Amino acid sequence: MSTDTLDIVILAAGQGSRMKSSLPKVLHPLGGKPMVQHVIDAASTLDNARVHLVVGHGAQAVREALDGQTVDFVEQTEQLGTGHAVTQALPVIGEDSAVLVLCGDVPLIKPETLARMATIVKGGDVGLLTVEVADSTGYGRIIRDDNGAVKAIVEHKDATEAQRAIREINTGIMGMPAARLREWLPQLKSNNKQGEYYLTDVIGMAADNGVVVQAIAAGSEEEVQGVNTRLQLAHLERHFQREQADALMTGGATLADPARIDVRGTLNCAQDVTIDINCVFEGTVEIESGVFVGANCVLRNCHIGADTVIEPNCVIDGAHVTGHSTIGPFARLRPGAELASHAKVGNFVEIKKAKIGEGSKVNHLTYIGDAVLGRDVNVGAGTITCNYDGVNKSLTEIGDNVFVGSNTALVAPVKVEDGATIGAGSTITKPVSKDDLAIARGRQTSISGWQRPVKRK
Ligand code: UD1
Ligand code: CA
Repeated sequence: MSTDTLDIVILAAGQGSRMKSSLPKVLHPLGGKPMVQHVIDAASTLDNARVHLVVGHGAQAVREALDGQTVDFVEQTEQLGTGHAVTQALPVIGEDSAVLVLCGDVPLIKPETLARMATIVKGGDVGLLTVEVADSTGYGRIIRDDNGAVKAIVEHKDATEAQRAIREINTGIMGMPAARLREWLPQLKSNNKQGEYYLTDVIGMAADNGVVVQAIAAGSEEEVQGVNTRLQLAHLERHFQREQADALMTGGATLADPARIDVRGTLNCAQDVTIDINCVFEGTVEIESGVFVGANCVLRNCHIGADTVIEPNCVIDGAHVTGHSTIGPFARLRPGAELASHAKVGNFVEIKKAKIGEGSKVNHLTYIGDAVLGRDVNVGAGTITCNYDGVNKSLTEIGDNVFVGSNTALVAPVKVEDGATIGAGSTITKPVSKDDLAIARGRQTSISGWQRPVKRK
């Protein structure tokens, strides 16, 4: 029997009561995305795969969270067991398909493992993913005959003392040709300790029918670890993060401590990037060679050009940094911030939707929003672009080589031409022409011999 289509059924109807959460278990995030999304993504790497998700508890929330994806939802209104769950998907499974059954709460399953399983099933055998664990309490045990062939799976609650001593367990991930599933599922009985229709009983049926059950071992315990509690979720999160940290180091990045980095999306690092401790990367982050990221930075959907130094405690979101910049400490780059080469952004500076020209410096306690700055501009401490009048946002334009004195307010829309100088403490409301000095502040007056007030009696 050989087939082309692959139907992947992901079980996700259970309640997950031990999470103690109003959020359905499979939507709890791992590495920044819902657990079940990891499973869907792994499944989607396989050729000609159609993904079916069996939902029940919190079905509406799960559908909404996965809206817009090519996933077929199958409703299991009553959770009568894993066999019953797969039965709900039977009507949408192709006649000659190979079928894989995965669990929505086993998030770290690897595409390579699924590919191995698919090959077994396409060859007409039953594939079963197992793992040896130190403590097999609670799991289905793999029963083998004297020749080592798999005969059955016995659930923990139904197992004898001798069977409970077995440490090879069912991961819950298995596969078989659709025709076999159609034959076996209707034969399931719920006469067991839990009164459920166990999918695992099909393994015994396969053995009885002389169908080969090929058991393959998972790559690691974590790959097939199910999440029932927040403790288990946290354990897998660390495992997942460590795998990503290892990949970054293998690719040529230095991590001050691989146990203290969190990648919740895609982080692409060129060679010789150094990342200090406690940094978080979200969305898609690209970092070019020679960049240093200081401690406690959060980088989200941004591009950091070569040889940039990001000092500690910066938040960089939706920004594009060309290269050779120094940023921070304590800088915030918001969406639309664009730094040309060698631009400098210092401490307690916020930049939003603004272009900072080549070699320009915005070093201290400043807000630059909705602005375009030319090259070699110096923005003094405490400068504010007043970009919002309470209704509309307006643009501040600053030419090349402008010097903005400290504590200046630039009331947009306003334009300062090349080479202009603005005196400290100015509130600029009118255009400043090329090479002019603009001062807009109260003149200093002095009263000599001033007597300070004295305390009233
Ligand atoms: C199941 C296996 C067990 C295996 C273990 C691995 C069965 C009978 N037992 O046990 O051999 O060692 O997983 O973790 O299959 N689900 C539904 N609908 C249902 C019941 C379950 O969608 O009616 C889903 C759950 O949401 C979960 C998965 O199926 O994602 C497994 O169900 P769970 O109740 O956790 O099975 P276990 O008792 O852990
Ligand atoms: Ca479970």
